[in-house]
Amino acid sequence: MTASWKIGMFQCAGLMGAWKLPDNTSTEFLDLNHWLTMARRCEEAGVDFLFFADDYGYPVVGDAIPANAIRGGVQFPKGDPTAILPALAAVTEKLGLVTTLSTMVEKPPMVARKMATLDHITNGRIGWNIVTGAGQNASARLFGIPLTDHDVRYEIAADHVDLSLKLWEGCWDDDGLVVDREAGVYADPDKVREIEHHGPHFSAKGVLTVPPGPQRTPVLFQAGASAPGRDLAAKYAEAVFLAAEVPALAAQIADIRRRAEQYGRDPGSIKCLMAGTFIVAETEEEARAIRERQTATKSLEDAAAAYAFFTGLDLSAMDADKPMDPIVASTQTGRTNVERFLGPNAPTVREILEEFQRNNVMGAPFIGNAQQVVDQAEEAIAATGADGFLVQPDHTGTFDSFLDLVMPELRVRGLVETDLPTMTLRERLLDTGTPHLAPEHPGASFRRDARTPA
Ligand SMILES: Cc1cc2nc3c(=O)[nH]c(=O)nc-3n(C[C@H](O)[C@H](O)[C@H](O)COP(=O)(O)O)c2cc1C
Repeated sequence: MTASWKIGMFQCAGLMGAWKLPDNTSTEFLDLNHWLTMARRCEEAGVDFLFFADDYGYPVVGDAIPANAIRGGVQFPKGDPTAILPALAAVTEKLGLVTTLSTMVEKPPMVARKMATLDHITNGRIGWNIVTGAGQNASARLFGIPLTDHDVRYEIAADHVDLSLKLWEGCWDDDGLVVDREAGVYADPDKVREIEHHGPHFSAKGVLTVPPGPQRTPVLFQAGASAPGRDLAAKYAEAVFLAAEVPALAAQIADIRRRAEQYGRDPGSIKCLMAGTFIVAETEEEARAIRERQTATKSLEDAAAAYAFFTGLDLSAMDADKPMDPIVASTQTGRTNVERFLGPNAPTVREILEEFQRNNVMGAPFIGNAQQVVDQAEEAIAATGADGFLVQPDHTGTFDSFLDLVMPELRVRGLVETDLPTMTLRERLLDTGTPHLAPEHPGASFRRDARTPA
């Protein structure tokens, strides 16, 4: 555990149920002011970053979208976060801005160009959440391609990240951009070069046309905790989003750190962030009442649609009184939320549905007043070795209760940094004192100075 916790805020479209509450604002997701207010509030409260989850998927069961997923707003509807981020960069100075781009959808030069541009316009506050993608069955249908096997998707992701890293790290020297009007030199041809890549899934020869931003490579996040997902995290991620009950989360973190060591990386250099639900109010009674109101918005049908989104599996067609049949459950869509419910003490299908109705993909929430939830959070950090939290929106669709009640309590206990100066997201999150990738990160080997020693 590090000295201070890292705190990110999580935004995800179509979290089931919550939008039905009268004071919930998540339905304003296409109103820019909604996001501007949220970003400003996060910055003022001193959290490290705001993260936008993203994907092209939605629940698909068999070959159709269940009507209740559309009616109930389960992982649907949603917009494109990368269209919103530049506006948030303009009204903030310190807040990290992180979004997902799937390695199955956007090709490496597209990711590299978009992220490099965002690195400039955020002054080095951008992060990329690398995923192979939730809702893959829906996404594959939408793009008119066959569903790629799960583990192959992760091989593609590794090749994708290698090429993206080459583009960020290998094309430009730091002083390649000259802009000397008198000499007529925009960029120095000796300091800008094409990279070549011949990987198992991607080939490229070319240059990234965007000069390097303050971080060069965006801070690399990863989410997706199946075994190949953990391996991808261990090789490339600088921070990981994880959601599970405490014992499972502790095991996932230990596994990622063990694998990181095998890749020659410092296992402590990967910030493992636990997706945490804080149901907090002035009093415990109020918090419990909010929890009840929230739970009442979600039906078992919503839970089945949400489960189908993550796994492609239709729980409503299985025997409710038995655990999932591992053969039936051998899906090629997401695996984290399948593996979680298999094994010796596997719950029944009904219990899985009830768990998803209560908590979706998250572990159990922290409930109570500010002191109580921080006590519970401290226990979770001690039990898992996590480095901080990715905080779920509260019942209003904002983070107001966390920012107003929990952040001050974290400060009082010295659990978060206060009044940090302006810096890049990498410096802020990783405490390494540099805006660039650590020397032992695989991306560092693509730098020119790494290839041709002076
Ligand atoms: C906090 C958190 C945030 C996530 N954000 C995304 C996201 O934005 N997009 C996405 O496709 N998957 C996201 N995931 C991962 C998916 O839940 C899913 O596990 C993954 O995409 C499929 O990989 P898997 O087979 O390893 O589970 C997130 C997971 C967690 C825990």
